Amino acid sequence: MVSSVRVGLPSETKDRERRVALTPSAVNLLIGHGHEVLVQAGAGEGAGFTDEHYTQAGARLVADAAEVWGADLVCKVKEPQSSEYAHFRDDLTLFAYLHLAAEPDLTRALLDAGVHAYAFETLTDRYGLPLLAPMSEIAGRAAAIVGAAQLSSASGGSGTLMGGAAGVPPAKVVVLGMGVAGTMAAIGARGLDAHVTGVDVDLHRLYEHHLAGNLDATQASEPALVGEHVREADLVIGAALVPGARAPVVVTEEQVASMRPGSVVVDLAIDQGGCIETARPTSLSEPTYVEHGVVHYCVTNVPGQFPRTASKALSAAVAPKLLRLADDLAAGRAGTEQEHPVLQGARNVDGGAIQHEAVAAVFPDLPAAAGLAGDAA
Ligand SMILES: NC(=O)c1ccc[n+]([C@@H]2O[C@H](COP(=O)([O-])OP(=O)(O)OC[C@H]3O[C@@H](n4cnc5c(N)ncnc54)[C@H](O)[C@@H]3O)[C@@H](O)[C@H]2O)c1
Repeated sequence: MVSSVRVGLPSETKDRERRVALTPSAVNLLIGHGHEVLVQAGAGEGAGFTDEHYTQAGARLVADAAEVWGADLVCKVKEPQSSEYAHFRDDLTLFAYLHLAAEPDLTRALLDAGVHAYAFETLTDRYGLPLLAPMSEIAGRAAAIVGAAQLSSASGGSGTLMGGAAGVPPAKVVVLGMGVAGTMAAIGARGLDAHVTGVDVDLHRLYEHHLAGNLDATQASEPALVGEHVREADLVIGAALVPGARAPVVVTEEQVASMRPGSVVVDLAIDQGGCIETARPTSLSEPTYVEHGVVHYCVTNVPGQFPRTASKALSAAVAPKLLRLADDLAAGRAGTEQEHPVLQGARNVDGGAIQHEAVAAVFPDLPAAAGLAGDAA
């Protein structure tokens, strides 16, 4: 048993990803608890935090990614890229977005190496998903802006302006999944004076939005009825989630094909496989493609283009949980049979087995802890 752990903060490697998981003040919090923090030189630059900010906070700056990954506990933003799998080992604890349901290769690499992998996006508390929510909030706001921009003819869209004009009705927007991301997307689209319909399986959630006047219309998530709205829509924003699982397909390929040419879909749920059947992952460098005449924007790291705001929001949410994980590791607790309540739902892979029910159900052929869907025992 040790009294402190070494925490590593590597630079992000995903395409155009400029966020950093911890701000200097969060690093200082860890150091105040007796932990050592290794920061890769330049890790915070994209978010406006210099190396000097981190050294002033007490971090040790290292040039080499391998040295940062050599820490006991690595905290980063995006799921490790294939170039980072070489750093995996059985005494590594990883705390990051993992989105394993859409990442079979990463899932296998974590299992094979025996990494203790905790996912931000499935960590659960009484309010919901506290480490997913801040990025969903940002991605939702961004979706309305991006969708509006893609509708311009200059971007290959139909040339429809969200708010319409005197004598011309506004654009029709359909939002699939009225959780955190969907709510912010709907508020953003309404802020641009579009006509917004919110879709969800959770009728109570729709009732609350209806009562609060957040939407022009609500629609229960029934395939045929959703299809009618989609056919008439200028912009469809996908944000449906079942935590840990592959995203439910809410809009079929046939329904996408029924949309007017130049209409736009923005599928935020793409990080969990997508809730629009024709969605496939795109990057910030090449964010769109056209299928059935419909512009698709399916970027898996939308908040990565707003690194200043996103890093501060993410770090504020992550830091207290990470601190607990580091303290637990130092005390020899986390990663063993007893999960700390503050990390509830986060443990995805550990001891060479999938530990999360919904992730196990996606990969029935991979080893899972006893009692879970993929339990190969
Ligand atoms: N692409 C990105 O960069 C990015 C960034 C942040 C979040 N996200 C993703 O956005 C998605 C939404 O996240 P969130 O935090 O808003 O989740 P949330 O849990 O707050 O909301 C999800 C909503 O989907 C609803 N839902 C579930 N099944 C449905 C169905 N069949 N039809 C309609 N609605 C359904 C749920 O009832 C819930 O209201 C997630 O996949 C998340 O990972 C993507």
